[in-house]
Amino acid sequence: MPDDNITQIRKLEHIQIITKRNTQYREKTTMLELVGIKPNGGAISKRDVDIESELLGLPVSAPLFISGMTGGHPATLGINRNIAIAAARLNIPMGVGSQRAMMENKELAYTYDVKKFAKELILIGNIGATKLLVYNDGQIQRMVDSIGVDMLAVHTNPGQESVQPEGDIDFRGVMGRIIEVARGIRQPVIVKEVGNGISREVAARLNGKVYCIDTQGAGGTTWIGVETYRNKSKYGGAFWEWGIPTALSVLEARSSFNGPVWASGGIRTPSDVVRSLAIGAERCGMAKPIISSERSGGSDGVYSFISRMIDGIKEEMAGLGFQSLKELRQAKVTFKEPLRHILKDRGIKAK
Ligand SMILES: Cc1cc2nc3c(=O)[nH]c(=O)nc-3n(C[C@H](O)[C@H](O)[C@H](O)COP(=O)(O)O)c2cc1C
Repeated sequence: MPDDNITQIRKLEHIQIITKRNTQYREKTTMLELVGIKPNGGAISKRDVDIESELLGLPVSAPLFISGMTGGHPATLGINRNIAIAAARLNIPMGVGSQRAMMENKELAYTYDVKKFAKELILIGNIGATKLLVYNDGQIQRMVDSIGVDMLAVHTNPGQESVQPEGDIDFRGVMGRIIEVARGIRQPVIVKEVGNGISREVAARLNGKVYCIDTQGAGGTTWIGVETYRNKSKYGGAFWEWGIPTALSVLEARSSFNGPVWASGGIRTPSDVVRSLAIGAERCGMAKPIISSERSGGSDGVYSFISRMIDGIKEEMAGLGFQSLKELRQAKVTFKEPLRHILKDRGIKAK
């Protein structure tokens, strides 16, 4: 079967597995539940809480974004369209899934091209780090320009690739290529994982070289789990729990990377968002809850889910006495065991 057919079919399989099987970490959590926030003491109302911010100079209504998921099969256009319309109505950024399929077959570009439905959307493109070894900077530039992306997310996923039947496990030269591409294309580059987290060491190597680290840590969807189902073997089971929990990944990246750090991987509740911001994340991303709400309720389903999250974030911030994101980011935080011990061991400070 040609490569582009395999890539297309895989995109559909991923959605089916994620929405029908339990592909979440079983024991490992994000560790966000181990983060405590000292209340600010202010008596305020939810109506006073301001969670607006800017991204690339553009206004964003909440410290949220939709993590890259799909595109590349004709059936994914409707999903991307529904998500894009909801994201634009709410004024939050959205990522598309890996654009590899459109690189292999340019006729599939329309399945990612969501700005035709939502002109104002802040759109994040997506490509696997190993694919940067295959395509030159000019080809990557054309890939992002053809759907009008504002930023490009490059995903590193050694865990997933190791378990994926057709996985690409030769990562030699990838770091250098990420840095070259970040210099070579016009759009800012984000480096993201897919649910296994980014370490302090990797973040340090990317410091000053890429725009942002999107942790996509452990505790939510495990792609080793997804590929284990696709593989129909027990091989991946041994690695199911592999990865750096999201809270730890944010704190690790914060300690060695001076640019924005985004928290993602297992973000499910307003508390997860508030705690992530308090430990230094700029914004929080979600994948699984978005595809689930789209599959059950279409664009309105995504809109309602995110609206409830936004409401919950404001409620929680008001309860803790924080009126703005700036105040929340200056909050005093405490860590419960075992997170406290791990941070001490690694010499990582709260902020
Ligand atoms: C249906 C689906 C498809 C995904 N496809 C991609 C992809 O093409 N590229 C990518 O970088 N991440 C992809 N991801 C990973 C997410 O961006 C995210 O890193 C991961 O699911 C962890 O977030 P969660 O716990 O909120 O699901 C996908 C996730 C889902 C749910």
